[in-house]
Formats: sequence, C-alpha cells, structure tokens
Amino acid sequence: MIVPGDAGKSRLLFAIAGLDPDLKMPPEGKTPLTKDEVGRLRAWVEQGAKVPKGTETRAAQTAKSSHWAFRPPVRPAVPTGGFQNPIDAFIRQRLDKDGLKPSPEADRVTLVRRLSLDLLGLPPTPEEVDAFVRDTRPDAYERLVDRVLASPHYGERWGRHWLDAARYADSDGYEKDKPRQVWAYRDWVIHALNRDLPYDQFVIEQIAGDLLPHATQDQRVATGYLRNSMVNEEGGIDPEQFRMEAMFDRMDAIGKGVLGLTVQCAQCHDHKYDPLTQQDYYRTFAFLNNDHEANVAVYSPEEQQKRADLFRQIREAEDDLKRRHPPTGANTWPGGRKPSAATSRNGSCSARTWTRFRRAARSTCRSRTGRSSRRATPRPDTPSS
Ligand code: HEC
Repeated sequence: MIVPGDAGKSRLLFAIAGLDPDLKMPPEGKTPLTKDEVGRLRAWVEQGAKVPKGTETRAAQTAKSSHWAFRPPVRPAVPTGGFQNPIDAFIRQRLDKDGLKPSPEADRVTLVRRLSLDLLGLPPTPEEVDAFVRDTRPDAYERLVDRVLASPHYGERWGRHWLDAARYADSDGYEKDKPRQVWAYRDWVIHALNRDLPYDQFVIEQIAGDLLPHATQDQRVATGYLRNSMVNEEGGIDPEQFRMEAMFDRMDAIGKGVLGLTVQCAQCHDHKYDPLTQQDYYRTFAFLNNDHEANVAVYSPEEQQKRADLFRQIREAEDDLKRRHPPTGANTWPGGRKPSAATSRNGSCSARTWTRFRRAARSTCRSRTGRSSRRATPRPDTPSS
C-alpha cells in the first residue's frame, strides 16, 4: 500500500487521488479527500511515511470503550423477599414489575421430567418417575437434582454447546471429508463437565495443555480444541495455504469460544470497533503457530503400560551397549550421529533406537496412529480423485 519515500509506487496514493479506477477511494457516496489533504499524505509518504511515536491506533482508543462487552461482570445486589435461592428473588422481582404472579408448583411427574430433559437431554425412566413420586422426604427435590447432576449424561448434554464452539466434527470437511478420530477430545469435554473442572483450568488445558509441566495424555488431548479445524486433503492443494487457514480458524475458535469476540477482523487491520489491534492478533497467532505437531496419539492404560515397558527395555539395552562399547572419540556412533536422547526419552513414535526393540516399539506406534486425536497438517501426497 505504502512504499516509504516513493509516492509513485504507493498504491494508497493512487487510490485516494483517484488515479486508478479499480482502486478508487473512497467508495461511492463518500466525500473524497481534498487536493490539499492528498498533497499532505503524498508529502508524508515522500518523507518516509514515519508514524509519530505515541500515536494511538483506533483500536487502542476503543480500548477505553464502555461497551458492556468489555466491562467486567459485577455481582448485583440480591432483591429482598426472603427467598432461599437468589435466582428466585430476581425472578419474583421481575414478575412483580410486570404485574405477574408465579404459577403454582408443577406436579411431581412434570418436575422430574422437566429436570431430566433440562440437565440430561433425556426423559426419566418410569422407575425414576415412580421413585420421585414416592419419595416423601422434605428434601426429595434437592436429592433428585443431585442425582441427576451426578449422571454421566450431564456432561454429554451440556458439553454439546462447548463442542459446537470447538467446531467438533467426526470428519475432515472439504472435498474428501474423510472420517477423523477425535472422540478422545469429545470425551475429554464430557468428562471435564462431569467432574466440574473449573473454567480457568478448562480453558488453560485446551489452549496450552501440552505446555503444562509434566503434561498428562489427558491434558494433551484437551488441546484438540485447537485442532478441530477442517483439513483439506484434496490433490493439488497448497498444504501451507490450508495450514494457515487452520491457524486462522484456531484464532477464530479462541476469539468466539473464549473471548466472545469476532477477532478475525484483525487478521487484516486493527479491529474497527473492538479494542483489538492487528499486532495483538498476530502476537497470539505466533504463539499458536509456534509448534511442530504431528498427531497426538492416545493410548489406553494397557497400551501405556506396554509402551513404558518397551521403552524401559530399550533404555536398558542402550545402557548395556554403551557400557560394553564405551565411546572412544567424536564419531563413534554408526553414521557419525548420536541418536537423539530427547526423542527416545519422551517415547515419540519417531524414536531412533539402535536395538532389536526398535521394530517392536515402532509397531506399537503404528497400531495407534489410526486412533490419533487428529492430523494437523494436510497431507500433500494424497492422490487426487
Ligand atoms: C481479509 C482481510 C479483511 C478482513 C478479515 C476484514 N477486513 Fe475490513 N477491510 C479490509 C480492507 C483491505 C479494507 C480497506 C477496503 C478498501 O480499501 O476498499 C477494509 C475496510 C474496512 C472498513 C472500512 C474502512 C474504515 O476504516 O472505516 C471497515 C468498517 C471494516 N473493514 C470492518 C471490518 C470488520 C468489522 C471485519 C470483521 C468482521 C473486517 N473488516 C474484516 C480487509 C479485511
């Protein structure tokens, strides 16, 4: 747009001076800049297009915005009225304001059905209805709520909303739309709700679970949140283009799911209305773009045990070899290269080992890749249809 020092090469000036019909600014119906204003911009570009220090961008100005979306939530005072549950106090206050009276309490069959549909998305069984109808204890309803909240279906019902924000899908999208195996992430979300994982932890694990100290398999699986983008495996595509599309999509997921903002506007310019600069956008983008990931393989507890055993045996065999053939100089390893300690220690599938266990370890990995959490990078080598 701007070539500092060269107005003749700066598209911006062509646009605002109306020299190029295709670029003509402003859009029809808006007042164009005066000759004098265009002249001043031209002089500014000729002088090197320097932005004065301390100049606030538009986004920085809107940061002072008092728009409700940027005000921290404040707990309101509970209306008086002697209700046990503050929510009831708020509802009663509003009903009073509109001159309405609360309905009488619903019968027990209706209550248990409503509760079950709300919290589990499923109707109660006839036995559950009977049990509640017969329960004459004064806290029967509270007990029912506790029982329903403890159901594993609770996470399935309420995890769905988050899975929508996480763009969860069982296939890759685009033309090939192959099935993908991401159920481990889906289950992680369901379990997170069922075990009441606090919201901050819920977000931390999904955005950077792999970076937590001694990250568990579960915490790595949580990052599936970022890896639910569509994957294009069509022949002839530019893989880097679609890797970038996936990166933008990750930003979008964080924006919409966590910040409640359409951050993608800042992909091309400072956000026009929200306090978000293009620089902020690409700072976060760089964080996400700064990893080398292949698949997150997910192992069952038995498989984890088997892998741990295999890697232990490999370590022992290697130590034994080193003891029997101590290094004598720089290039003592076959091929002149020492096997990477990092890869074999963390047990990655690419671990290069020098023992007869190598093949066994590899085949464990291979058998798991079919159930890996997902493939992040489109495969350029897939033949086109
Ligand atoms: C793919 C890049 C891209 C994205 C994404 C994008 N814009 Fe723009 N936007 C532009 C460009 C380029 C211009 C300048 C238009 C021109 O020169 O005709 C522009 C101009 C504008 C303008 C008018 C110029 C002004 O300063 O008033 C507004 C308003 C605007 N964008 C808002 C948004 C909003 C809101 C979003 C997100 C919903 C968004 N844009 C997303 C590229 C983008």
